[in-house]
Amino acid sequence: MIRKILKWTGIVLAGVALVAIGAYAYVSVSMKNRMAKAYTFEKETIKIPTDSTTLARGKHLVAIKGCQDCHGTNLEGKIMNDDGAIGRLVAGNLTHGKGGLPASYEVSDWLAALRHGIHQDGKPLLFMPSHETTLLSQQDLAALIAYCRQIPEVDNVLPENDLGPVAIVMSYIGKMPLLSVEKIDHEKPMIARADSTEGAAQGKYLAVSCSGCHRENFKGGEPLAPGFPPVPDITRAGHVGKWTKAQFITTLTSGKTPEGHVLKNEDMPWKMTAQYTRTELSSLYDYLQSIQ
Ligand code: HEC
Ligand code: HEC
Repeated sequence: MIRKILKWTGIVLAGVALVAIGAYAYVSVSMKNRMAKAYTFEKETIKIPTDSTTLARGKHLVAIKGCQDCHGTNLEGKIMNDDGAIGRLVAGNLTHGKGGLPASYEVSDWLAALRHGIHQDGKPLLFMPSHETTLLSQQDLAALIAYCRQIPEVDNVLPENDLGPVAIVMSYIGKMPLLSVEKIDHEKPMIARADSTEGAAQGKYLAVSCSGCHRENFKGGEPLAPGFPPVPDITRAGHVGKWTKAQFITTLTSGKTPEGHVLKNEDMPWKMTAQYTRTELSSLYDYLQSIQ
């Protein structure tokens, strides 16, 4: 009897393992095809001013949009992650040094990356938040590109991306933002310039950078990956609703909440939010407070 049960358990387990292997093979092939697909979008170009105000704006955008968190302090590129489960994730060298962008990388290529989420060869960028940068105004895109095109060259040759099984499965089920090219509305025209007066409209434009983690409705949700804290609601319905504007600004510039909770920069990138101007933080507060 016992032997029979053991035998059947063995058969069932082997069956389950086979189904799992089959399912993983299917998911893996499907993701590889999506990552290898070549896209073509109409080539766009915009005028890139190089005056000091534009360059200063570009530098500010690089700081507040987290480009350095992924691409490194000098935008020299960085291995963001390297382990067996998630795999190796690499944010490219954006300078023109060794291992960086080729000399042939034109303004239209910058726009293809920032607005459409693709490489110069039309292949999708992996894990680059182009679904957020695509919403930048033409004025801001021009400033970002102007600044990035004149940063000093850094030689930094990096290995290729190599996704692990957890990243492949999580991307397949939509829990990891792998292919922004698939999420972008490619027909959406660039807005000329964003509202830069203090208030909720400016806050809404800026809050796009918070939506990747706090979700599109800013109501938070499950942790972004196993082992991370849950993501809080930052609308009026959450703690933020009880904070004064001054408390909100202190939280986002010091990483300490009025309740005494210390935010780790790896979980909530407060060193990035600390670089927003007071006006920008005030606008973010006004916008978040306007959401129920
Ligand atoms: C969450 C991390 C992350 C952030 C934030 C981020 N990037 Fe990226 N970016 C990546 C990764 C990863 C790649 C490489 C994708 C690949 O090779 O498939 C990439 C690729 C690029 C490329 C394309 C380079 C090439 O080789 O084709 C450009 C241009 C770029 N990023 C610019 C920026 C700028 C400008 C910002 C800030 C506004 C920024 N990125 C913010 C992760 C990030
Ligand atoms: C990379 C993901 C990520 C991004 C981007 C991000 N946050 Fe967060 N944020 C978190 C996580 C995770 C926590 C919770 C951390 C903890 O519990 O320690 C958090 C916490 C907070 C808190 C504290 C809330 C509370 O109830 O105590 C505020 C306020 C906040 N974020 C605002 C923002 C704003 C505003 C932006 C955009 C400018 C932003 N965050 C961008 C992940 C992120």
